[in-house]
Amino acid sequence: MEVVQTIDELREALLELQRTHPNHPRQLVPTMGALHEGHRELLKHAVAQGPTVATLFVNPLQFGPNEDFDRYPRDLSHDQEVCQQEGVSLLFAPFPQEMALDQQQFVIQPKGLIQHMCGPHRPGHFEGVCHVVMRLFSLTQPDEAWFGQKDFQQYRVLEAMVDELALPIRMHCVETVREADGLALSSRNRYLSPQERGSAVAMFKALDQLKQAIEAKEASALLQKRRNELHAQLSVAGFRLEYVDVYDVPTLTPVLEPHPGQPLVVAAAGWLGQTRLIDNLLIDTESI
Ligand code: PAF
Repeated sequence: MEVVQTIDELREALLELQRTHPNHPRQLVPTMGALHEGHRELLKHAVAQGPTVATLFVNPLQFGPNEDFDRYPRDLSHDQEVCQQEGVSLLFAPFPQEMALDQQQFVIQPKGLIQHMCGPHRPGHFEGVCHVVMRLFSLTQPDEAWFGQKDFQQYRVLEAMVDELALPIRMHCVETVREADGLALSSRNRYLSPQERGSAVAMFKALDQLKQAIEAKEASALLQKRRNELHAQLSVAGFRLEYVDVYDVPTLTPVLEPHPGQPLVVAAAGWLGQTRLIDNLLIDTESI
């Protein structure tokens, strides 16, 4: 596996990748590092499909002023080892100047898809994600790109960007990897104290209850009551909750009354101490 840090090196390495793997669809797995089993799952899927480029860049544009950019975990040698073990062909870990973020003239501004869920709580976040992912797409020229379902809103926004800007990239969303008790893996879980770690699983449990209520076709009034109960339940577990709700997958708007066959996702975000956690579950729409 080659590791490159400049655009010139990247372009040269991509030419070589093209030469050694002609007619194989190039795969991209963009990451911010601190790679865990969830990332390994993305890498495994990608590598099974073709020569894989992984990127590793902690994107300052997607962190708010009071968020954890400075303390976000960085461990290049660990991440390099993970990529090597998973069969990645090329790792692009750009020097910050290669991303040219201080010269930004253009903004990709998502619209409807960020009106709910994390959008209102993280102003500028999705614009920052779109800008950097668009630049990574331009630099690495993938045929296919892989993202985790845990950041489902991010996935939907990027999928819409690819669609609207007619980028010739096939997008993939890979199911969330969880701890044995259900907690979604996240690079931020390492911030949790043992007590917070014990409480963190309450978010998954709440989402699972909401999912089951929808799958059991609970009447909308009952569903509303259940949402309120789950809100209270998560507060008792110590969460400062931002949202827990049911959303329509195409528009990511809240759903008061699910229609049969409507693609739905239940999602939540909240803080435990200094750590912001998110999670979601897709509803099996065939079953409702
Ligand atoms: O999901 C992430 O790790 C980041 O948001 C991404 C897609 C690499 C963009 O910085």
